[in-house]
Amino acid sequence: MHTIEPTPGQSKPDLYSELVAAALALTDGEPDGIANMANVAALIPMFVGELNWAGFYRLQQGELVLGPFWGKPACIRIALGQGVCGTAAALSQTQLVEDVHTFAGHIACDSASRSELVVPVRRAGRVIAVIDLDSPLLARFDAEDAAGIEALSAAIAGRI
Ligand code: SME
Repeated sequence: MHTIEPTPGQSKPDLYSELVAAALALTDGEPDGIANMANVAALIPMFVGELNWAGFYRLQQGELVLGPFWGKPACIRIALGQGVCGTAAALSQTQLVEDVHTFAGHIACDSASRSELVVPVRRAGRVIAVIDLDSPLLARFDAEDAAGIEALSAAIAGRI
């Protein structure tokens, strides 16, 4: 197995470049999407600090279903348009929520979550999953985090 560690003290864009490179290395040549999602879910909190949950929901027969993740057990099924994840999937649009208490319909799987970033994963232009990051800190995520997770999503879309 590879030794994977972020370089200390680097900029956020560089950190996300390393995360993407590590995800590509971990999933290289592996055809099993579940295995690849599991490793990417474990990898995210090694590079992105102050999280309490990171993982995947997959679009299955018109609803989101829990996939591999890091963190506490979570809600299993989320309807399209519901919560932050269902909104990201329905609109095919990243959702960056500074305070989940102000997001109408937020689904509280872990009461510790205060801010959230959800990025769609698209294959051939269609949403196949979302990557969900939760933090116990208010306003943990900014545009650089969104761009970084969008790059990760695009990089692994063909491998999950
Ligand atoms: N908070 C999410 C639900 C998923 S959990 O955070 C893991 C939402 O509102 O869609």
